[in-house]
Amino acid sequence: MAPFTIRWGIISTGGISTKFVHDLLVDPSSREVSDVAHKISAVGSRSVESAQKFVDKFKATPENESAAWGVKNGVLEGVKAVGTYQEVYNDPDVDVIYVGTPHTLHHRNTKDALLAGKHVLCEKPFTLESAELEELIAIAKDKNLFLMEAVWTRYHPLAYAVEEVLKSGKLGKPKRFSADFSMDFPLDDKPTSHRMLDPALGGGSLLDMGPYPSVWAMLLVHRNPHNKDTDPKVLTSHQTVYEKTDVDINSRWLVEWKGTCQGQLMTDLGSAGFQEATAVLQCEEGDLVIEYPPYRSEAYQIHPRPERDIGAIKEKSRHHHPIAEGNNGMSYEADEVARCIRDKKTQSDRMPWEESKITQGWLDVVRTAGPTATAHLKGTAGQ
Ligand SMILES: NC(=O)c1ccc[n+]([C@@H]2O[C@H](COP(=O)([O-])OP(=O)(O)OC[C@H]3O[C@@H](n4cnc5c(N)ncnc54)[C@H](OP(=O)(O)O)[C@@H]3O)[C@@H](O)[C@H]2O)c1
Repeated sequence: MAPFTIRWGIISTGGISTKFVHDLLVDPSSREVSDVAHKISAVGSRSVESAQKFVDKFKATPENESAAWGVKNGVLEGVKAVGTYQEVYNDPDVDVIYVGTPHTLHHRNTKDALLAGKHVLCEKPFTLESAELEELIAIAKDKNLFLMEAVWTRYHPLAYAVEEVLKSGKLGKPKRFSADFSMDFPLDDKPTSHRMLDPALGGGSLLDMGPYPSVWAMLLVHRNPHNKDTDPKVLTSHQTVYEKTDVDINSRWLVEWKGTCQGQLMTDLGSAGFQEATAVLQCEEGDLVIEYPPYRSEAYQIHPRPERDIGAIKEKSRHHHPIAEGNNGMSYEADEVARCIRDKKTQSDRMPWEESKITQGWLDVVRTAGPTATAHLKGTAGQ
């Protein structure tokens, strides 16, 4: 049977849109997918020159690169390069919009796309604040459109493998959780207008990196078969200010799943943390360790409890679940979007609105309690 082909409209021509479009061009069979396929119908940028340059560059992909498959096989056939985002939302050849703009624009761009009747995959963090997210969900529900936060990590081979470990019950009940996304970002070498530094664009570590410790919190604790708390709350938080622009250089927050365990989540732009483990779930029978990087991990480890002879797990083991070669790792979420739209779903079971709302709620609490300039940012809900 021919695959179900979804037609994408791409919003913005920055770094992440480049990676996403690359992955739409990779042969689906290289990741053993045959039921869905992708086409790129339009690319929108604030300038038509930038949109055209973006398209031309992909069309000229060297033969030996994985994305050349899509160029040869019609993924870019008839693609339009346009100088406004609205033209992409209005394009009848587009089924779904990918939003790859800075954080503070996600709500505006996604809302415009939904109002034009398009399904949307929006980059993380979904929105600046919960009120914006609530509004987007209400529009998607009302218009019966698919809407998802682009948390690609949830669709990686490792995420499925770890889910099986948790379901097997061999680790037992969770006791402690911690997750970290940290790096030595060259803060002082960047212009203060850079999106990671500009408070008006939601700069700082929390909004950009916070979705990743949150992914692991959601996958390892929230969705753990032992957890019954559907509304985990932030108990306390701390942020350190980067004095040059008043954004957070680091954030830490403590979450509690009542009756299950607490989790410590961390983001840091000023100092790379321990690179062997991005998330650790310590359980009654043994410990689960997710290796770096948090957004694209390819291996997990299982360890005996630190005090031997307590848990049932006696041997350390390492399990590798790689992303297909030649793929940044974004094809998997794109495949999920295609399948959900094919199946007339408005949300994905693996990244449901409810879980985006929980993560967004944590980011709201940490951001508004903190001392940074982004604490006072107001979203565009209702506008
Ligand atoms: N999933 C992931 O792993 C991942 C990784 C990196 C980033 N992201 C997310 O993707 C989003 C974009 O990040 P990025 O690294 O791709 O950023 P970027 O390279 O700066 O690109 C953002 C693009 O947005 C458009 N834009 C519209 N208004 C803008 C404004 N006022 N200032 C700057 N750019 C504006 C620009 O494209 P045009 O000029 O073409 O309109 C720009 O190239 C962020 O929300 C980030 O959290 C996700």
